Amino acid sequence: MTAPVDPTSTEAWAELDALRASFSPDLRAWFAEDPTRAERLSLPLADLHVDLSKNLVTDDVLAALVRLAEQTGVAERFAALLAGEHINTTEDRAVLHTALRRPAGSSPALVVDGQRIDEDVQAVLDEVSSFAERVRGGDWVGVTGKRVTHVVNIGIGGSDLGPVMVYEALKPYADAGLEARFVSNIDPTDLAQKTADLDAETTLFIVASKTFTTLETLTNARLARDWLWTRLEEKGATGSDETSRADAVAHHFVAVSTALDKVEAFGIDPRNAFGFWDWVGGRYSVDSAIGTSLAVVLGPDVFRELLAGFHAVDEHVRTTPLERNVPALMGLLNVWYTNFLGAQTHAVLPYAQQLHRFPAYLQQLTMESNGKSVRWDGSPVTTDTGEIFWGEPGTNGQHAFYQLIHQGTRLIPADFVAFANPAYPLRDGERDVHGLFLANFLAQTKALAFGKTAEEVEAEGTTGALVAARTFAGNRPTTSIFGPALTPSVLGQLIALYEHIVFAQGAVWGINSFDQWGVELGKQLALQIAPAIEGDADALADQDASTRALLAYYRDHRTA
Ligand code: F6P
Repeated sequence: MTAPVDPTSTEAWAELDALRASFSPDLRAWFAEDPTRAERLSLPLADLHVDLSKNLVTDDVLAALVRLAEQTGVAERFAALLAGEHINTTEDRAVLHTALRRPAGSSPALVVDGQRIDEDVQAVLDEVSSFAERVRGGDWVGVTGKRVTHVVNIGIGGSDLGPVMVYEALKPYADAGLEARFVSNIDPTDLAQKTADLDAETTLFIVASKTFTTLETLTNARLARDWLWTRLEEKGATGSDETSRADAVAHHFVAVSTALDKVEAFGIDPRNAFGFWDWVGGRYSVDSAIGTSLAVVLGPDVFRELLAGFHAVDEHVRTTPLERNVPALMGLLNVWYTNFLGAQTHAVLPYAQQLHRFPAYLQQLTMESNGKSVRWDGSPVTTDTGEIFWGEPGTNGQHAFYQLIHQGTRLIPADFVAFANPAYPLRDGERDVHGLFLANFLAQTKALAFGKTAEEVEAEGTTGALVAARTFAGNRPTTSIFGPALTPSVLGQLIALYEHIVFAQGAVWGINSFDQWGVELGKQLALQIAPAIEGDADALADQDASTRALLAYYRDHRTA
């Protein structure tokens, strides 16, 4: 693995620095002077129309950003990813989530580290599909012979956020009378509330964990198993002997993991488990068997259509020159905002209620990937890295935090995501409600870009101090991502778009976007502190003064 290029030492970086020094963004003037700006800076990405024109960039800045990508080897790094090189250096692994969505029969076949990747991917996809059909068709039944009505996915991080986000987004496609629920938090409230109204006889648990060691998931899986046994036994549906209990687990638990030996040790028959591989990162795994809950509830055809959407964007990235490569350009814009214009956060604002979990999903994808202070060779980074991603669906956010984006002192680049057609075409009398919704999306991006001058405010009759309060500076950058409808394929395109944006930024910064060592310390400390919670004096003595005081508060206030 070659050493990362220091982006700050490139000629392009110096060019960008010089451009920044005299940079005076004026979207009103830029649009007025160049009637082709919107057209020139709007690019197709599979079914999506991506309008970059309301970003704070001139042609010179864009050209220099493209040169930065060239000089830091973004395209070469993407080729290394596709080829299965071990670009995840700290874990010595290939990074091959793009292989999960290669169509069957892709040529030339992908063989990495001796593994025939395409064949293995298709084999698991077929297994997941046929399992899904059995559940959907009523061939897979619970221990008392009843059809499954509820699927509960137990997982956390990438083993939860992807499935729950996609389920919420594509719920209108759930056509088999099945409902999915998602339990992730080790706070017992999560499992207690999500199972409270369920019938054990018709509930299927999917334990999803890449490593099958995650404390939260294994704890919740054991709680779910106890819940199952208790509920079945209370009803007199099954006995409480070991054989009956094993039988209950066999009918009501399946697993998804790369560690099938650990699945078996938990008590789940490996024949009821779906595998994947260490070259799929957790936050890149929704299109692996981690999506089994989706294949069951939405159907295998919907799941395959989702994969096709991902693949369309992979192909765009692979075959499109940087100047028109949408994910690369969006990643480069983020570099411009983060490293040159001082932005610290990035908002993602879906104008689609179905995407209400999309910002949370993106937080793991972006921040676990690019929240790094060292580069892939272990040397310190030379620039600021990953920005803070956040967001909420419009129009809710408009009535909450948009004030700060419009008139605050911080620069917050924002992505707006919208769809021409709604899942539910409702009318309010004569009015098309979705049309009104889209008018809000268009109005917000327009207001952010062009603002409202003091003269315009005064022309409306406002005077005195109110003029300044009612003035909008504009020049607040946005990207509009417009799709025809939130279909499975379009959703796959959207997810893949962000995967590749993250990749492009990581490549410029020279970081490994595929490890997550930053989550380890807290996990270790939780295990050290747990005995102190239980009252272990030695563990208590080991703690710092603040932690000891918090533990004392806990002991004084707990009632159970
Ligand atoms: O703790 C972080 C993390 O490792 C994520 O990267 C991952 O998605 C999540 O935990 C869950 O891990 P697993 O799928 O192995 O249970």
